Amino acid sequence: MASMEKLRASVRKSLPEINNIKDEALRNKVVEAWAFALSETEFTSIDQIKPSGNPNTPPLKRGTQSDHLRGVACAAQGLADGLERVHGDLGIDRDLLWACGLCHDLGKPFEFSPKNQARWKKNIGAAGYPSIRHSVYGVHIALTVGLPEAVAHTAGAHSGEGELIQRSLENTLVHFADHAYWRVMERVGLLDMSEGSK
Ligand SMILES: [Fe+2]
Repeated sequence: MASMEKLRASVRKSLPEINNIKDEALRNKVVEAWAFALSETEFTSIDQIKPSGNPNTPPLKRGTQSDHLRGVACAAQGLADGLERVHGDLGIDRDLLWACGLCHDLGKPFEFSPKNQARWKKNIGAAGYPSIRHSVYGVHIALTVGLPEAVAHTAGAHSGEGELIQRSLENTLVHFADHAYWRVMERVGLLDMSEGSK
């Protein structure tokens, strides 16, 4: 099993945009959250996780799960840039937006883990399938390492779960960036549509 120090280094390498977070404590907690999420699974790098939105949806033909996180985080900032260019300051917390973008899929190592997938499929009646989705599990990871509640909120409600509540400002930007990411990748032919149904 990889040491936490190795996992932290792996996370820093996979997600260079972490360095855009000005607040040192927040930056370190983003690293800690991903290292902790990986440590519970057979993965030692975010790059090893299937590059798809869900375990059964089409993956990227080229690119990694890290590229997805980076793309969404950068797209959310770009969306904020475009709107603020026209409307002026909209009060978007850019540090928080980076953290929310990079952490929205914190629960994917757990949900995408081949070991967990096999365990759940063996007895869906007992476990449910999936037992806990990445969105919900991401809340557990975020709160365990002490990330702000707003980051846990984005992990838990960037997805369909967010339709039951009102999303925060930063989560709204991440939610649309995330959905746009997969739609655009499909349109430019970067998704392997032979796999999955999305
Ligand atoms: Fe995502």
